[in-house]
Amino acid sequence: MAIRQIRLKGDEILTKKSKEVTVIDDKIKELASDMLETMYKNDGIGLAACQVGMLKRIIVYDYSYVEENSPKKPVVMINPVIKSRSKSMIVVEEGCLSFPDEFKEVKRHEKVTVEYMDLKGNKKVLHAKDIEAVVIQHETDHLDGIVFLDRE
Ligand code: NI
Repeated sequence: MAIRQIRLKGDEILTKKSKEVTVIDDKIKELASDMLETMYKNDGIGLAACQVGMLKRIIVYDYSYVEENSPKKPVVMINPVIKSRSKSMIVVEEGCLSFPDEFKEVKRHEKVTVEYMDLKGNKKVLHAKDIEAVVIQHETDHLDGIVFLDRE
């Protein structure tokens, strides 16, 4: 495992569309575990692969901080796709490890249903709400080259 360098504001890679992962090999597993380590090291809640320079559709997150003294709950999603979105919206102040000094209130769907693969290649469906739904929307946006500052 290793800490990877986070790409910052102005880096073109943050505006690019990431490619689907076709095979979950050791390199992908290593990337995912490095992403988690990098996220924790930088006190982040989520990270997309493009933020460490890899244009692959992988996101990681852990929103367990919302509960005091909660154990870590790392999540890795390969090729996540948001399949449905609630009409109800929530506004949360967001930040991003690639924009360390910027924060912005962004309006997001309160609930989303996301399909993805886990690191074993199992297809999963998750119904997420509140902070978890926001994090998933923020991170999946990165996979399409969209950052939170682009959102209203
Ligand atoms: Ni971000």
